[in-house]
Amino acid sequence: MNHPVFAKGRVAVVSGAASGIGLAACKKFAAAGMKICMTDITADDLAAAAEPLKSQTDVISVVADVANMEQMEGLCETVYGAFGDVAVLMNNAATRQPVGCWEGYEAWQKTLHVNLWGGINGVQAFAPHMIKQAMPSAIINTGSKQGITNPPGNPPYNVAKAAVKSYTELLQHELRNSEDCQVTAHLLVPGWTTTGKADHKPGAWLPAQVIEKMVAGVSANDFYIICPDDETTPEMDRQRILWSAQDITENRPPLSRWHPDYKQLFEDYSS
Ligand SMILES: NC(=O)c1ccc[n+]([C@@H]2O[C@H](COP(=O)([O-])OP(=O)(O)OC[C@H]3O[C@@H](n4cnc5c(N)ncnc54)[C@H](O)[C@@H]3O)[C@@H](O)[C@H]2O)c1
Repeated sequence: MNHPVFAKGRVAVVSGAASGIGLAACKKFAAAGMKICMTDITADDLAAAAEPLKSQTDVISVVADVANMEQMEGLCETVYGAFGDVAVLMNNAATRQPVGCWEGYEAWQKTLHVNLWGGINGVQAFAPHMIKQAMPSAIINTGSKQGITNPPGNPPYNVAKAAVKSYTELLQHELRNSEDCQVTAHLLVPGWTTTGKADHKPGAWLPAQVIEKMVAGVSANDFYIICPDDETTPEMDRQRILWSAQDITENRPPLSRWHPDYKQLFEDYSS
């Protein structure tokens, strides 16, 4: 926790805090003596997740839908009213509703509202206040490799996460070019991680491992925090990201990694 945003007594706000990676972040921050605001849409799970942390630090838990700007503004007011500081804002809540490209209109809307607008709402509500604080602060948006390499299977999720990547890059550029601004943005990209009610399978990371990597990345002032897992090494990620970008520069079909005509080429390239 070698960075002023993680200092004891400072404040972290985490969305999607009732489960998985968000909850692991709250546990890590609480153990470091940070005050925490946990927010999620599921009241019971949130209360159960927050309770054990209350013996360690000051915790507030707020039920809010990240897709709802009024609720995010209310959350911001509550946090500043209670703690007067936000050192870390982690826009992390997400939904998964796999549907195809020409079906599931409601699933598309829901996914984009939560996974993309959730982060934008968080930034719009909190960033002006965080900038005014004139103290080091960090906005961490949770992206996904699916928003970078675009595998088939869950189009709305990929589209939202690709936009989260683009948005967070632009956000960091604007923050960097704002005079006297001490807020930085970071894109956390977990690998395969056991979360929710899933059984832990060999190959996956645990949420606590993602958070160790996240804290190390922010502490090193990294923007892209790309997590491997026990199946996918950093070198495999690097090759897949480059291959995906080269679909454009080499005039290959999109998603060529999953195209039968390119199967062998990709295997040769990545072996
Ligand atoms: N688990 C993985 O393998 C993996 C991989 C890449 C990226 N991610 C990303 O990590 C982040 C955390 O996901 P997770 O795997 O820990 O999942 P999770 O399902 O354990 O946690 C997500 C939490 O978000 C909450 N949530 C959903 N909709 C919400 C809304 N509208 N408002 C507020 N809260 C809402 C859920 O109630 C849940 O508690 C997500 O952004 C996800 O896309 C996860």
